[in-house]
Amino acid sequence: MAGKRRIIIDTDPGQDDAVAILLALASPELEVAGITAVAGNVPLEFTEKNALKICELAGRTETKVYSGAVRPLMRPLVTAEHVHGKTGLDGPDLPEPKMELQQQYAVDFIVETLMAEEPGTITLCPLGPLTNIALALIREPRIAPRIREIVLMGGAYFEVGNITPTAEFNIYVDPHAADVVFRSGVPIVMMPLDVTHKALTSKARVAAFRALGNRAGIAVAEMLGFSERFDKEKYSGDGGPLHDPCVIAYLLQPGLFSGRECNVEIETGSELTMGMSVIDWWGVTDRKKNAKVMREVDHEAFFALLVSRLGRL
Ligand code: RIB
Ligand code: CA
Repeated sequence: MAGKRRIIIDTDPGQDDAVAILLALASPELEVAGITAVAGNVPLEFTEKNALKICELAGRTETKVYSGAVRPLMRPLVTAEHVHGKTGLDGPDLPEPKMELQQQYAVDFIVETLMAEEPGTITLCPLGPLTNIALALIREPRIAPRIREIVLMGGAYFEVGNITPTAEFNIYVDPHAADVVFRSGVPIVMMPLDVTHKALTSKARVAAFRALGNRAGIAVAEMLGFSERFDKEKYSGDGGPLHDPCVIAYLLQPGLFSGRECNVEIETGSELTMGMSVIDWWGVTDRKKNAKVMREVDHEAFFALLVSRLGRL
């Protein structure tokens, strides 16, 4: 498709993943070549099913959904039902999906697509633990120079951790995979908690989704009504951070975000700081700058984009 940016979304839905996927499927600038599910917020049996449910909610049943890693590379799976509910998509009552998963394993789909397509034409958009991405890079290192960019949600620095005092959930669940990705040499745009904690829902913003009146808007309002209850109590605010849609919004309107090129390294040795994303924000080392780390977002414009796009579904 001429002019469209071709992306693969790797995801562990998760209500915020769902909003990101809906935004992508509602945006004509993007072509979703595939959605790959990974274990994270909830086990793989739920994340793969949730990805199908979200495609049906968007009315995009032609979307190809692949199932991927059932656990991290080295560590046992840590999930977040306390935030996302048992199914990972608590809130709306979405029907069991009629769509079926693709037969191909997600990692093989990622490798095959990158080896078959013109170099520099596929952008990877990880929204969960980086297990599938790391497995693809290990299985076929030749894909690294063929990836246009990796735009991911993960990590934290000034905002510190949300699953441990020092680590953000996606990186913490599979720190070894994150280490593989950040050492890959692939251009990375990183959306850490430092920026996603500035994209906060509110009663008015949830009401704006509900006021769309379409299935997607109402379902998103119900999803956020569920997932933000945890964040409101934890951060004592009026709403919760909308992490994953920052990745897709960046592809649509990069000017909404600002940050800087930094060196980012991942802690994989110390249990105390396991999964910490050590970001050299002030450039106090001569380590290679391997990621553009975002720290600011125009949150009014971000939510306006979300509402306008979800209204198209
Ligand atoms: O820490 C926030 C991240 O962890 C988001 O991607 C959320 O969906 C969970 O996966
Ligand atoms: Ca996620």
